[in-house]
Formats: sequence, C-alpha cells, structure tokens
Amino acid sequence: MNHLLEISLLEKTNVEYLFRRALSFKNHTAYPNYQDYILANLFYENSTRTRVSFELAARNLSMTVVNLDLASSSERKGECIEDTVKTLAAMGVSLFVIRHASDGIPKSIAACCPESVHVVNAGDGQHAHPSQALLDFMTIVERKPHLERLKIAIVGDLRHSRVANSLQCLSALCGVGELALVSPDFWCPRVAHYGRVTSSLQEGLDGADVVICLRVQHERLQVGEQLDLASYRSQFTVTEQALRWAKPDAIVMHPGPMNRGIEIDSEVADGAQSLVLEQVKNGVFMRTAILEALIQ
Ligand code: NCD
Repeated sequence: MNHLLEISLLEKTNVEYLFRRALSFKNHTAYPNYQDYILANLFYENSTRTRVSFELAARNLSMTVVNLDLASSSERKGECIEDTVKTLAAMGVSLFVIRHASDGIPKSIAACCPESVHVVNAGDGQHAHPSQALLDFMTIVERKPHLERLKIAIVGDLRHSRVANSLQCLSALCGVGELALVSPDFWCPRVAHYGRVTSSLQEGLDGADVVICLRVQHERLQVGEQLDLASYRSQFTVTEQALRWAKPDAIVMHPGPMNRGIEIDSEVADGAQSLVLEQVKNGVFMRTAILEALIQ
C-alpha cells in the first residue's frame, strides 16, 4: 500500500490487516519508532478531528509533523499544489495528508510525486474519505464482528457526502449483509456503489444493527437546493422514536461534525447506543495503522 486514495484501490486483506493492527494499538501494542519520517498535513478545507487525529497518529509513530498554514503559504502567491508538495518533498517530507474541496486532487498529486512519497486522501470534494470509512468499520467490527450478518443503514445527504461513497465501497469489499441508503429523493446518490436506496426512514432503519447518520452538507448545496428544514426534520432526523425501528442493540454513529436537531437528535447523539466519541477515539488508532502500513 503506497498511498491511501480510495477504498476501491484496496484489497480485502489490506482492510482486514488495518482493522487488526488498529485494534492491537488500541489494546496497547507498542508503537514502532519512525522518527526519521516527516509528515505534512495539507488541509485546504476545514477540519478538526481528521487533521488532529492524523497529527496524533504520526506522533504515536514518533514522526515529525508539519501543519502547513495554508493562509500564509506560497499558494497564496500562485504556486500550484503540485509544486508545494514537490518543494516539501525536497525538504524531506515523505507523507502528505491532503484534504481538498476538489474531487481527485490527492490522486493527481500521488501520480506526479516521487515513489518515496506517500499520499493519504483525507477527504476530496464529494468523492472519497477512505480513512473515515475505515475507522467507522473498525468501530463496527469491534462490537459486531460478523459484517455479513449485519444490516447497516446510512441516513442523510448521500449525494454530497464523500463519507457515504467510501462507506458504500467498504461495505461492498467487506460483504456487508444489507446496506440501506436512506435519503430524500433529491439527495439520493448519483451512483450507488452498493446497497439499496430508499426514501423511507422506517424502511431503512427497520431491523438495522448499525445506523450511520450523515451531516447535511450545507456548504455543498447548489443554488436551488436549499433545504426545507422542517420537512427534512419530520422525515429524516434520527430521533429516539425513529431509532426504535432499529434492533434494540443497534449502534448509532456519525462521522461529525454533527448538526444536532437536523440529522440527529441530541438524545440519540448522547444516548447509550451512540458510538460517536468512540469513532473519534478509534480514528487515531486507525490512522496510526494506516501511516505505518504506507511506509512498511
Ligand atoms: C466528514 C468530512 O469532512 O467529509 N467529516 C470528517 O472528516 N469527520 C463529514 C462531513 O463533513 O460531514
């Protein structure tokens, strides 16, 4: 594994290895020392948990971390991202964690880099967010290891969500028993990689083992796509009442950041079935396993 660009470029054995390794780090396996490596976080879009957890993951491996201040970088003077990456690579940076608003940027950077450089896609446009899907599935298999027996429901803005794409691809790779993709018609996925699309929350949640809520991506809505919040709330918010359609031991997840009261109610987000903060915690272990796998 030279780069982590999208789930469809991984084999099932890569994914199973990452689950095992991340869980073993969580169970206190000692971290190897990679102090000669330098990682740069290049975030061209806002982020809290993804950027910080890649930084903590790199520190677990004793790497040096550079967080580029993009507001004052040379790109403000017109430098293209490829030149920024090549410049940093010349200084010895060999791992680049890239988040960008445009689909495909991490892939095109990976294509023009020297072989010694590793690129991680930390979310590109509406395309992919592989490390998020991997940490989400780590959180699922920790509680419910038999993915082939599970019904997973993903609820929300499936059209604009890169997390939804990566979750679908990972569900296909891991052979998830049933995947329900729940969204209003106007946000149904343009391409469903796996699973069945429905606009009925009840149908989607019925008997589900795992409920993954996705953020309403206000910043990605086009003109004319403004949301009627009251109508969205009445049909798609995962409330305590709606959660009763799922199995009694169903787990609830959300990649964050959450819009409380829009895609998920606070009673559910903070309730006994919620694993939202466990996802955040697992994110550091999964990203440690990813960085290690890239340089091995
Ligand atoms: C996601 C993202 O940025 O794609 N968040 C995250 O990485 N934790 C989901 C989102 O923004 O809704």
